[in-house]
Amino acid sequence: MAQTVSAVIDGSPVQGAPAGQFSSTNPAHVDEVVADVAMGDAALLVTAARAAREAQRAWAAVPAPVRGRAIATIGRLVEANKENLARLVSREIGKPYPEALGEVQEIIDTCDFFIGEGRRLYGQTVPSEMPDKQLFTFRNPVGVVAVITAGNFPVAVPSWYIVPALLCGNAVVWKPAEYSAAAAAAFYELFVRGGGLPPGVFNVVYADGQQTYAGLEQALDAGLVDKVGFTGSTEVGSRIGELAGRHLQSACLELGGKNPMVVTPNADLDLAVEGALFAGFGTAGQRCTSLGTVICHESVHDEFLVRFDQATSAAAVGDPFAEVLYGPMLDIRFAERFEKYLGWIGPRHKVLGSTGIGRITAANPRAGFVGDPEAGLFCHPTIVDGVRPGDEIFDQETFGPLVGVTTYQSMDEAVELANAPGYGLSSAVYTSDAREAFAFRQGVSAGMVSVNNSTSGAEAHLPFGGNGKSGNGSRQSGIWVLDQFTRWQALNWDYSGRLQKAQMDVAELTPDLEFRM
Ligand code: UN1
Repeated sequence: MAQTVSAVIDGSPVQGAPAGQFSSTNPAHVDEVVADVAMGDAALLVTAARAAREAQRAWAAVPAPVRGRAIATIGRLVEANKENLARLVSREIGKPYPEALGEVQEIIDTCDFFIGEGRRLYGQTVPSEMPDKQLFTFRNPVGVVAVITAGNFPVAVPSWYIVPALLCGNAVVWKPAEYSAAAAAAFYELFVRGGGLPPGVFNVVYADGQQTYAGLEQALDAGLVDKVGFTGSTEVGSRIGELAGRHLQSACLELGGKNPMVVTPNADLDLAVEGALFAGFGTAGQRCTSLGTVICHESVHDEFLVRFDQATSAAAVGDPFAEVLYGPMLDIRFAERFEKYLGWIGPRHKVLGSTGIGRITAANPRAGFVGDPEAGLFCHPTIVDGVRPGDEIFDQETFGPLVGVTTYQSMDEAVELANAPGYGLSSAVYTSDAREAFAFRQGVSAGMVSVNNSTSGAEAHLPFGGNGKSGNGSRQSGIWVLDQFTRWQALNWDYSGRLQKAQMDVAELTPDLEFRM
């Protein structure tokens, strides 16, 4: 049965749908509507930002340890609803159920981390250069945070923003992906109820990209938004970053990736194949950390390719509630765009991994498919061997179940190939040689490096983020994200009773610099 989802601003559901209705469907059974979503417009986003602005000061005045308790109880409520939320995520975006459970766990882990931060949120005491004067630093909340997230991680990635933003004393306006609106509505409910959050502290609005951009621009112009967090494509991210920059703000951007995996001559090939299979095809290759290109040493290329092809061909694809490697594409827009990427396969590329390419149908079947492929948006896994720089398939992110393979001769060349597309999110190297592992770490432009592990599957308390086309250097998670949602304030307090001028009224010692022993 479809549920109705609408914006919630200042604690009240918004009536009406200024920008019409959107149907969020089950991508494994496209005839099934999961949610009827009342779509908001730019004006609604501004209204939400205004409500957030009004609620923020009172929220910031709640002692940080008490805000930490709110995060603790949110985590507890999410944990009590773990299976239900995971089922909803699987149903709405087609992520295999065990992965959806992992995704919900990532919210709980994030809450667990930030519970303690409520009692920490440290500032510093700093010695002054003058007597009877003390210096301090304080972390202040930035104010109103607008968070715009994708639907491939419809609840975990939003928690990376929203948990620390709330903990630090900010009010939030969240614009989730409309094709994961039911999961977003559940997340919203769990947070507001679990945290006992006052009205206006956390607001949610559903809107398409164009209305969101317009609303964000208006809210920024009106001085109602102090920080923008965005997870999504490089193209949209650069527009958001530009908009924020015009308002003298730096957005927190988590963008695309073309994540490389280097397989060296002394790699454990079976381990590398297992990693490539999960990183390349898990979540149907729709993670920002999904594997883009395997960069294989020429001496192990043929053997790796045979094993990778075998493992991929044998993998179960289909019903996300069955035991499968991956399920459908997230939504029709991703299934359609994936066809475009497949069009980049050229005559000198060799295609492996399945019994066909493109959409899995009765006429284009996948051996061992689990369920009815015609009911949903399922795509064949595709390995493309022989990709090189200059090929679109090598240079661009290909969001979906597609992995390129290329070869290298020296570690310098491997690093050059890893960096060539200009992204820099995640990366991996398979080796048993510490020198190679560290040479790769040092040379690769990625914000995250795995040694003998997949490019995806980052833990929730290490800095997460990218460089180049993958982001503007912002980092999420752990202590590092605090710098996104707070600003340092420096305080100096002079209690000498007179004006002591810095740099000028400083006591001088008399060293003897001529002394020689
Ligand atoms: C994303 O795809 O936007 O590291 C985030 C991972 C997950 C998060 C991915 N923990 O693959």
